[in-house]
Amino acid sequence: MDIVDLTPDRPDRLEQAARMLHDALPQGWPTLEAARAEVCEVCAVGPERLARAAIDRTGAVVGWIGAIRRYSHAWELHPLVVRQDRQRRGIGTSLVRDLERLLAARGCLTLFVGSDDETGETSVGGMELYPDVLGHAARLTVHGSHPVDFYRRIGFAIVGLFPDANGPGRPDIWLAKRLEARAGEPAASAVRGRDEG
Ligand SMILES: CC(C)(COP(=O)(O)OP(=O)(O)OC[C@H]1O[C@@H](n2cnc3c(N)ncnc32)[C@H](O)[C@@H]1OP(=O)(O)O)[C@@H](O)C(=O)NCCC(=O)NCCS
Repeated sequence: MDIVDLTPDRPDRLEQAARMLHDALPQGWPTLEAARAEVCEVCAVGPERLARAAIDRTGAVVGWIGAIRRYSHAWELHPLVVRQDRQRRGIGTSLVRDLERLLAARGCLTLFVGSDDETGETSVGGMELYPDVLGHAARLTVHGSHPVDFYRRIGFAIVGLFPDANGPGRPDIWLAKRLEARAGEPAASAVRGRDEG
């Protein structure tokens, strides 16, 4: 499997990426049109965006990942999807690792992601989260199958919740991960040490 840039000059790949998004996350992209629009937006070329695709031996897109710069040193991972028949084979992990490497080279220190709980698969779905929102985040457990377990397994930590983000009792779970600083930039631990000293 190769991981390559997902670019507007490959409409065949963009179409596969859109179908995959619509199939895997219909609550987020209920129509193929909406998924196509999302793919076009994420794949727009520029210094504030990055999109990568996993390509199998037959040339098919089997997963893809996007990222958008939101702060000077923090990027949002959005979206991430692996084709349904190819999930749980390490493709998602490989896509995130590849993205981390590229973003670290661009000076990114924090990669963050929002992972909705629309169906009560975690302890924070269908719950009143106020006033102890951060307490619910700290105690979060997964009942069924939810991507939050995937992100935790590859080093992300839960950093917060947006209660009712997708409707009453349907929060968004936010996770973040520190990336290694690129050569020439101080590591985050060095910055903290300097501030404390
Ligand atoms: C979540 C997703 C991107 C993970 O990609 P993947 O290639 O299937 O994941 P990997 O094989 O690299 O997974 C590594 C480990 O993460 C965990 N994991 C992966 N997907 C998971 C899920 N949906 N729920 C819980 N744990 C999961 C497992 O522990 C897995 O190891 P295991 O199969 O040995 O148990 C993929 O399942 C997917 O596209 N899901 C639908 C779309 C989606 O939810 N995207 C994320 C939106 S925030």
